[in-house]
Amino acid sequence: MSALKQSANSFTCSLARVSERSLKAATTYMLRRLAKFLRPALVLVAVFAVIGLAGVAYQGLRTLQRLTFVEADRDRWQRPADIIRALDVKDGNVVVDFGSGAGYFTLKLSDAVGPKGEVIAVDLRNLSLQFLRIRALLQRKRNIRIIVGEPDDPHLPDVIADSVLILNTYHELSNPQTILRHISQALRRGGRLVIVDRSQAEHPLSPDMVEADLRQQGFELIGREDSFIKDPEQDLWWLIMSTKR
Ligand SMILES: C[S@@+](CC[C@H](N)C(=O)[O-])C[C@H]1O[C@@H](n2cnc3c(N)ncnc32)[C@H](O)[C@@H]1O
Repeated sequence: MSALKQSANSFTCSLARVSERSLKAATTYMLRRLAKFLRPALVLVAVFAVIGLAGVAYQGLRTLQRLTFVEADRDRWQRPADIIRALDVKDGNVVVDFGSGAGYFTLKLSDAVGPKGEVIAVDLRNLSLQFLRIRALLQRKRNIRIIVGEPDDPHLPDVIADSVLILNTYHELSNPQTILRHISQALRRGGRLVIVDRSQAEHPLSPDMVEADLRQQGFELIGREDSFIKDPEQDLWWLIMSTKR
């Protein structure tokens, strides 16, 4: 009886071993088939990923080139040196470039404040700020802080800035009074706010309107040039200088 039981046991064991081995073999076979089937698809995905990345890199490089070209042309008529003078920038100052875009003026201000100073660039558009980030990195400008703002809140720290520039941006603000209030909070007493803009068909804006906004928010007007620039398209730009009382 016990011999019978033993042989039954050994039969069951060898059966289990055989089925384990054949299960392993079947699994290996299936995995090999699957890998063979998937390999071309994986290669195709990798090729598309590389082509996609190369396309993005190419577009990025072209945009960087275009920015350099457009800004070099803009330097000829935008009067950047006079804008920096109006901001009264000194070595070591903290200056805000509100509505910085890809950083046309942020990069200039970075040199103006020097390595001990700081430029805070605020914008709503992440993509523009990414280009600013890349350009600051390529030009080794380490004194630039980037803030992604919201339409009614630039997220600026209180009492941080010696001066603020709003260049070619005021006309886009949906709530200028709210923005001016935030900027006033971010400025030190006696700090400068310089606004440079023009009137456009889709955003009519006059220096009188901006001056009224500034007075309402408690800024003191210290200078105004209604014919600051006539650009190549014959648009008239004005500049308004004010201080925080
Ligand atoms: C015409 S672009 C000018 C960019 C830059 N100042 C220049 O002169 O090259 C206006 C910029 O203001 C930004 N902007 C508009 N409203 C804003 C807001 N409420 N807060 C921050 N940025 C704003 C836009 O995203 C855009 O990048």
